[in-house]
Amino acid sequence: MNSSPISSSEEKIPGPVRIDIETLTGACDEHGEWSRQAPRVIADKLRGKCPECERIAQEARDEEERVRLLGAMKTRKNRHIDRLLGESEIPRRFRERSFDNYTIESEEQRRAYEKAKAFAEKFPRAMELGASFVFCGPPGTGKTHLACAIANHVIRAFGHSALFVTVFDAIQRIKATYDSKDRTEREVMQGFSLPDLLILDEVGVQFGTEYEKVIITDIINRRYADMRPTIILSNLNEAELGDYLGIRVIDRMFEGGGGVVAFNWGSYRSKVIRDKALPVGEYRPVDAMRDA
Ligand SMILES: Nc1ncnc2c1ncn2[C@@H]1O[C@H](COP(=O)(O)OP(=O)(O)OP(=O)(O)O)[C@@H](O)[C@H]1O
Ligand SMILES: [Mg+2]
Ligand SMILES: [Zn+2]
Repeated sequence: MNSSPISSSEEKIPGPVRIDIETLTGACDEHGEWSRQAPRVIADKLRGKCPECERIAQEARDEEERVRLLGAMKTRKNRHIDRLLGESEIPRRFRERSFDNYTIESEEQRRAYEKAKAFAEKFPRAMELGASFVFCGPPGTGKTHLACAIANHVIRAFGHSALFVTVFDAIQRIKATYDSKDRTEREVMQGFSLPDLLILDEVGVQFGTEYEKVIITDIINRRYADMRPTIILSNLNEAELGDYLGIRVIDRMFEGGGGVVAFNWGSYRSKVIRDKALPVGEYRPVDAMRDA
């Protein structure tokens, strides 16, 4: 024990304390005859109480407490995940999009699927490395689906934050700060730099103005500097995207691993409505008609 050097000369050094011990005995309907020893001061409290019955009761109380604590932890975790899902701004159609409801119809598709899945499942590692991806290819090939499957997994499995935003929305939000008093451009830009994962959708759709390029480049560069993974989705192919954003920007993205995944197969849009595995009600047939 602690040998404290502080001791005054008047202090009485206590002599050995004698504890009177009493032997209690009894008979339990359940556990038969018992005997236990108890200090006399608490003996009255224990008289007639079967130690085995007491042990069982204590165990039950401990278990109850454990379940209660676990429940409280789970509620807290679920609330955290619900909040992250809400803040992720994953569009309604893609909230239930996952790896499970992604149909694999070709080897190329399998490779894309597996890259996306590995990235999602090893996301903590991707964060350490700052690994980023470009998903490119024609409309309806499942780029947004797989990107949102990644975001959903990253949030649910690891409790990491993710943000989904289209370039168009990102630009609108930045522009909106120019005549706003309550949000600065800096704050909006931080909103894009801080999430653990950013999905920047529809890059190059408008085949952008210089301004648009500057903004996208700025977002990517900030995230690159902070080693935060980014997924860029585009209908442009790798070469066009290189022309558009500049090869340096694309190159930087892959410094921590990742790379370009080409989605070169037919549109799935016309099949969505018949795909029983895809959650119904999330899909508006208007869009099915658009690309069909
Ligand atoms: N392999 C697939 N299995 C199941 N559903 C898929 C598959 N590919 C795409 N889908 C579904 O088809 C629809 C279109 O896919 P998605 O929006 O991801 O395509 P996209 O590549 O992002 O297209 P765009 O370039 O037009 O944005 C979505 O509802 C998506 O969930
Ligand atoms: Mg898309
Ligand atoms: Zn008993």
